[in-house]
Amino acid sequence: MRPWDRPLPRWMSEMCSRRTISPIDACPQRIVQPVAARRQKALKKTAQSDTISLNFACYAQSQFLEEEQHPMGKGVTLWFTGLSGAGKSTISGIVAKKLQEIGRNVEVLDGDEVRLNLSAGLSFSKADRDTNVRRIGYVCRLLSRNGVIAISAAISPYRNTREELRANIIDFLEIFVDCPLDVCIERDVKGLYAKALKGEIPAFTGVSDPYEAPANPDLTILTNTESKDESANRVVQLLYERGYL
Ligand code: ADX
Repeated sequence: MRPWDRPLPRWMSEMCSRRTISPIDACPQRIVQPVAARRQKALKKTAQSDTISLNFACYAQSQFLEEEQHPMGKGVTLWFTGLSGAGKSTISGIVAKKLQEIGRNVEVLDGDEVRLNLSAGLSFSKADRDTNVRRIGYVCRLLSRNGVIAISAAISPYRNTREELRANIIDFLEIFVDCPLDVCIERDVKGLYAKALKGEIPAFTGVSDPYEAPANPDLTILTNTESKDESANRVVQLLYERGYL
C-alpha cells in the first residue's frame, strides 16, 4: 500500500472535517504538486477530498522531511508543565497515542514514573526539583535529536529552569497545562491535596510551594474548559504548524 493510500486514523479525519487544519498549505509546492497531480482523479471522485488531501499532505510532508535528512520525522521535546492534577499525564498520553498512530516514535517521561527510577530518592526541595527537571530535559534532548517526539509531563514549577532547558534543547515546545488550583483540589485524583491542605505533605506545589506559570508558552491548554481530546488535538496541531509532522 502506498503511504498516501493508508486510511487516516479517526481522530485525524475528524480534525480534518472540522477544518481545524489546512495541511496542504503547509507543504512545499515542489512536493505537493506532483503528488496532487497523481491523485487528482481520485480527488474528484471522493466526497471526502479533505481527508485525501490530508493523506497526501502527510505523505508529502514525510518526503520533505526525508529530503531534509530526518527519515523518521523531525524530533522535538514537548514540555508539559502545570500543577499536580492539571492533566499533564492524561493529555500527554492521548497525544502520544495519536502520534504513534501516524507512525511516529514517541517517549513519555512522566513525573511520577521518573521519580521511581531516574530520579529515585530525590525530594521536593527546589534543588531536587531542579535536578529532576534537568535530568528529564537531558533525556528529552538525547531522544529528540534522534527523531523521537519526547514528551515530559512533570510539574517543573520553576520558570528559569524551564527557560534553561529551552536554551539547551534546539527543538523545544512548552505546553502550559492550565487548570485553576481549586479545580485541581476538587479533582484530587491522588488524594494528595487533601493531605497537603492538612499539612501532612510539606512543600506541596500550589499549596505550600510555588508554581511559576510560563510567561510565554508555545501553547496553553485549558483542561478545565476543553475536552481531553480537544486539548490533545491542539497539541498535535501545534506540532503540525511548527513543521514536526
Ligand atoms: S517536579 O516538581 O519535580 O517537577 P514531579 O512532576 O516530578 O514534580 O512530581 C510531582 C508528583 O509527585 C505529583 O503529581 C504528586 O503525585 C507527587 N508529589 C509528592 N509530593 C509532592 C510535593 N510536595 N509537591 C508536588 N508533588 C508531589
